Amino acid sequence: MIPINVPIMGEEEVQAVREVLESGRLTEWRPEGGPAARRFEEAFASYIGVKHAIAVNSGTAALHAALLAIGVGKGDEVIVPAFTFVATANAVLLTGAKPVIVDIDLDTYNISLEAVRKALTKRTKAVIPVHLYGLPVDMDPVMELAEEKGLYVIEDAAQAHGAEYKGRKVGGLGHLACFSFYSSKVITTGEGGMVTTNDDELADRLRSIRTHGQRKGYDTERLGHNYRMPEVQAAIGLVQLNRIENFLRSRRRNAEILSEGLSGLEGTHLPIEPRGFKHCWYLYTVRVEDQKKRDKVVRELNKVGIGAAVYYRTPIHRTPLHLKVARKVRPVNAELASRTVFQLPVHPKVTEEQAKWIANETVKLLRRKLAE
Ligand SMILES: Cc1ncc(COP(=O)(O)O)c(C=O)c1O
Repeated sequence: MIPINVPIMGEEEVQAVREVLESGRLTEWRPEGGPAARRFEEAFASYIGVKHAIAVNSGTAALHAALLAIGVGKGDEVIVPAFTFVATANAVLLTGAKPVIVDIDLDTYNISLEAVRKALTKRTKAVIPVHLYGLPVDMDPVMELAEEKGLYVIEDAAQAHGAEYKGRKVGGLGHLACFSFYSSKVITTGEGGMVTTNDDELADRLRSIRTHGQRKGYDTERLGHNYRMPEVQAAIGLVQLNRIENFLRSRRRNAEILSEGLSGLEGTHLPIEPRGFKHCWYLYTVRVEDQKKRDKVVRELNKVGIGAAVYYRTPIHRTPLHLKVARKVRPVNAELASRTVFQLPVHPKVTEEQAKWIANETVKLLRRKLAE
């Protein structure tokens, strides 16, 4: 089976881990972090083009810490899209604030600006646009609205390492941005995360939040957590970051092969990459108009060894937890997407020949299944 995503580890990662293990420094409780974490942070900040990167131990931790850094808490509202991984909304709940779940645009699967506007209240403190599947959100209007209303913008860039918007990398577009290095991601440390920002004060707060609000030790000044990235993870991350351009090139090549092979199929929508936007192709998403066919196509693809998958079958507001707390929302596009999208593998381990084969098999199945 060609999996939907796979971690790519080589001799260099092994060597980096060995060096950390032999150094005896496995972690660092001080706010400034250990030597490997600091090296990874510097390299990541320079890659994204921001002043600060703060390494943490998951993308969820990154989101929670970012929300704590801007002071989100009980009584506040934070606007999130209905169609994303559930961590985006859960991080808001963890602070005691209320996630306000809004609809997406169907052509990009990203948060709808119109829906954000409608959801604004006196209590809105922040918006979390998610660069879903690796396609950047149209950030200029989001930032204009935020400026007008005095809101913070936290980019959820968990799926968007290396994606670009108008010549700038995502992660440097909002006030803060959060990345994940979970094992399926474009680059991975197994588990891990990073917050990026150009704001010196927020960066300083984040370094303290990731280690229980401490500065010098036992001087906790604010509520934080143990969100420190272990040195082994940071060492792996640094090697992975050095490989990212190759990874992104292979993903793009495979996505282009799929788009060429699948183009022109009736009742089928392929992912778009608007002018000025650079997708990082974390996930290649196909949408079928006929809702009854999606699951059949995915099953058949799996049978022939193609690890097609569905992200996400359940929009956030339909998960049991959020059903209890969500306003009575009807994000119709998110609901439709959850019933009609599926993803095909484009990760760097997929060869050119395999990508062509995936395209051919998918076309065959879509023609057959959509004609039935
Ligand atoms: C959009 C999105 N946000 C947040 C997260 C949370 O990241 P993590 O799994 O590293 O906690 C993920 C990834 O899993 C994600 O895809």
